[in-house]
Amino acid sequence: MDLSITIAGVRFPSCVMNASGALCVTHEELLALGRSRAGAIVTKSMTIEPRDGNPTPRYYGFPGGSINSMGLPNLGYRAYAALIPELKTFGKPVIASVAGLCEDDFQIIATVINAAKPDLIEVNLSCPNIPGKPQIGYDTEASERLLKRVRKVITVPMGVKLPPYFDPAHHSAMGSVIGRCGVDFLNLINSVGNGLVVDPEHEVVVIKPKGGFGGLGGASIKPVALANVRAFWKIFEGRMPIIGTGGVVSGVDAFEHLLCGATAVQIGTVLVEEGVNVFDRLETELVAQLSKKGYASLEECRGKLKEL
Ligand code: DHB
Repeated sequence: MDLSITIAGVRFPSCVMNASGALCVTHEELLALGRSRAGAIVTKSMTIEPRDGNPTPRYYGFPGGSINSMGLPNLGYRAYAALIPELKTFGKPVIASVAGLCEDDFQIIATVINAAKPDLIEVNLSCPNIPGKPQIGYDTEASERLLKRVRKVITVPMGVKLPPYFDPAHHSAMGSVIGRCGVDFLNLINSVGNGLVVDPEHEVVVIKPKGGFGGLGGASIKPVALANVRAFWKIFEGRMPIIGTGGVVSGVDAFEHLLCGATAVQIGTVLVEEGVNVFDRLETELVAQLSKKGYASLEECRGKLKEL
């Protein structure tokens, strides 16, 4: 079965790709994504200056998922801009994830990265791990101001990576902002911010930064991710392409995202845990699930979740 998809006019050879942050910081990691069956190469969210990130340990995997507080380790936007031409030779889209420590940073990075012509740009409004920097996506006015600024300098399709919302009032408020800012696609969700995982044996936190607080990912956040995909799918009446991210560990998880309205899915925790061969497994499992349920294509099941 054909797992290729199109988002904002850009064709992806597969609907399964890495989530920004997972195995996509270094040149070598990005090349490995290029050689793998991933449907795209998504870069780590980039800042102006290269960053080492937070002190370690800063990622911890456990049976239900993961917690991280990486602190935006990345090569800096100039390095990613220089790598884009090489990354584009793999025959799959390159998505540049743009972050920043303040609004001006976003604009500078967006301008230069846009000039390097990634296939798409994802504006990350949802990093939970920089001490003293709240997630922009939880401030609708700041989000609107920022998105309107970067939209002016971005000429490739522009997506927005949002944090999870937990109340329909928040979905609707952010939906209105997105509707006013020329957004071409959404990526839902970033990690569930500021969870805390405890090691009861040693009576201690499991990651060092921020007293152990960090972003949750993996299996346990799937219901939150699905709810956000579904909520925004309904707000935009199926006309806003959505990348579903959160809790995809199997082909059936990917199928659930598609039913809720996702066009594609991204993987973070399971990619870190299993490495780039996970794309082969997930694609095989997704094809098996679609066939089992009698779907001949991805489009046929997109958004088709039934209600009682
Ligand atoms: C980091 C984590 C995120 O969830 C994000 O969106 C950006 C950066 C980090 O800690 O590196």
